[in-house]
Amino acid sequence: MQGLFISFEGIDGAGKSTHIESLAAAFRAQNRTVVLTREPGGTPLAEKLRALALNEPMDALTEALLMFAARREHLLQVIEPALARGDVVLCDRFTDATFAYQGGGRGFDLQVLAQLEQWVQARPDGSLRQPDLTVWFDLAPEIAAQRLAGARVPDKFESQPVEFFRRVAAGYADRASAAPQRFVRLDAALEKHKVWQQLTQAFVRRGWLAIMVAANSGPR
Ligand code: TYD
Repeated sequence: MQGLFISFEGIDGAGKSTHIESLAAAFRAQNRTVVLTREPGGTPLAEKLRALALNEPMDALTEALLMFAARREHLLQVIEPALARGDVVLCDRFTDATFAYQGGGRGFDLQVLAQLEQWVQARPDGSLRQPDLTVWFDLAPEIAAQRLAGARVPDKFESQPVEFFRRVAAGYADRASAAPQRFVRLDAALEKHKVWQQLTQAFVRRGWLAIMVAANSGPR
């Protein structure tokens, strides 16, 4: 079995989480071993970096360095070994989030981020590790804000004003247009089962999920 690396992106409130769980179940129903993980985080050290990055005020370069430090650790300890075993890695956010949040949202220098990306995601053969597919839950920031309102205690990013998320959304759109083959855009404003349909179609089309498995699973 070939390993498969899938990342999930979108502004806060776009509804990634339930779909990631359902997708994990669908892959398991096909006897694939699934590693469900997230960024920043995914290892004990990276989770500590996450707690700092999501809760402490800091300048944008410090924040970007923490995101990439956590990513390096996560790649070496979890993602690369899982892909080498042939597992399916479902990762809630990856580098596109750094370009969208630190680059778009906070306005940090994209060229510096691109340099960090080259260093952190370099593989021994000189190629750059990127997801095989990035599922982008695209949602208007105003709708996301309504969904998030009162849902839970917001972290540093979730408590940002809607303008911040407009810039984050634009950051995702830029990354998607720079790598259109890697991205699948979902209209996350649709009802949950329709979002699931769009999502599974992308996987069925690539031969990664069987039609029957896709039809028999999905978020409740
Ligand atoms: P999120 O993935 O939404 O997790 P939860 O649903 O548990 O809140 O939260 C992660 C937050 O971190 C989110 O607001 C986006 C932010 N983030 C960055 O700013 N840069 C990054 O590189 C990554 C991976 C996440």
